[in-house]
Amino acid sequence: MQALDRFLSLAGVAVAARATGAAWPAGQRVAALLDATPDAAAMPAPARQPACTCLPAALSATPPALGEAFRALEPHLAWRAGDRAGLGAQYAGAPVLGPAGLQQRGGLVAGISLLAPGATYPDHDHPPEEIYLALSGGEWWNAETPWHAPGPGGIVHNPPGILHAMRGTEVPLLAIWFLLPAQ
Ligand SMILES: [Fe+2]
Repeated sequence: MQALDRFLSLAGVAVAARATGAAWPAGQRVAALLDATPDAAAMPAPARQPACTCLPAALSATPPALGEAFRALEPHLAWRAGDRAGLGAQYAGAPVLGPAGLQQRGGLVAGISLLAPGATYPDHDHPPEEIYLALSGGEWWNAETPWHAPGPGGIVHNPPGILHAMRGTEVPLLAIWFLLPAQ
């Protein structure tokens, strides 16, 4: 899918460029795995959710090429509502990479998360190391880093197993997250 290829290509470049310090190795791995030959996945049917009304505001400050690529991909996304996070209409998420996603690449699992202004995704943890690429404003927290705003085009790195969360502020939060396969 051309829209997916374009978006992931720009996302890989952004992650590799912005992941510094302790996030550098994970950022380089994400970029390299995004270059893997794509395999077919479940490719769920496109769907939208109530939180998707926040998308224009979420995309208002996205780096232009990345925002344009996301807008082209968005009609293909199978948005799901926030039942798992207990956020109802305040949250929507869409699978991108992995067996349940649009494609498989290099063992990465990736998805889009969207939080309405003021909504907080609950604290959670998972064994895989994680990189977020922020497409909007919003704030992130983990057990080693206080709440902070990476800004549109910025990176968040969660080491394996760390407790972490994210929230919309006066603006929605829109991001793509990548869970790395074990080495
Ligand atoms: Fe996470």
